Amino acid sequence: MTIDSSKLPKHVAITMDGNGRWATQRKLPRTSGHNEGLKTAKRIVKAAADLGIESLTLYVFSTENWKRAEQEVGFLMNLIHTHLKGELQFYKDNKIRINHIGDMSALPKNIQKDLKECMEDTKDFTKIKLNLAINYGGRDEILRGVKNALSQGVDFNSLNEADFSKYLDMPECSDVDLLIRTGGDLRLSNFLLWHVAYAEMIFTDTLWPDYSNEEFISHIESFTTRERRFGAEKAKK
Ligand code: IPE
Ligand code: IPE
Ligand code: MG
Repeated sequence: MTIDSSKLPKHVAITMDGNGRWATQRKLPRTSGHNEGLKTAKRIVKAAADLGIESLTLYVFSTENWKRAEQEVGFLMNLIHTHLKGELQFYKDNKIRINHIGDMSALPKNIQKDLKECMEDTKDFTKIKLNLAINYGGRDEILRGVKNALSQGVDFNSLNEADFSKYLDMPECSDVDLLIRTGGDLRLSNFLLWHVAYAEMIFTDTLWPDYSNEEFISHIESFTTRERRFGAEKAKK
């Protein structure tokens, strides 16, 4: 099957889950699962860009992931830092625009600096928008959005949904069309609560480090065959 490019999802979001189990199955420390998962992420970013997807949002670290062992959290922060420093050229070479979503203020200072540099250095690229959700929580995003709107003196009585979206973390992206979650769990885990209102969802048992480009492409193909009704009796032609 070839993908009908007019039916591609504009915005794909992925909950990259299963790194820890991938490692445990191999009697490796959970951290090696995160190393392996990062390789998958890089591969899938490239595949999404090559397919012509406009926006890709990756769940990297949630507002709840701070509950993990200090050693694992420290490892993940270090991995994020080294990746952003070491792979900036990869993003530039592939014309990828990086954006951060989530609460930046609670991240370590070095990562805040890395993210700001990456966003600044890639801001003119248009091949694909890559939103990295780091210290991200869907409820936290909505609450920060409300505070943001209030601080700008917005009149809430006349505020509509489209206007409110502008105060959230990715005002330049359309709603999520397709949400993919690897790792076999059937839940949202506080990801993109506002933006997935009408997203199509695909859950796969594949653990993130094993998620292949072929499976990703098959998920995109599957999306193109779905009928999206958005509450109407039938899909718009
Ligand atoms: C996802 O993999 C990566 C992060 C949440 C940072 P996990 O680390 O949650 O892997 P499992 O779910 O324990 O296998
Ligand atoms: C969701 O996975 C967060 C990321 C993939 C970054 P978790 O592993 O944290 O989710 P739960 O705890 O299983 O719901
Ligand atoms: Mg998990």
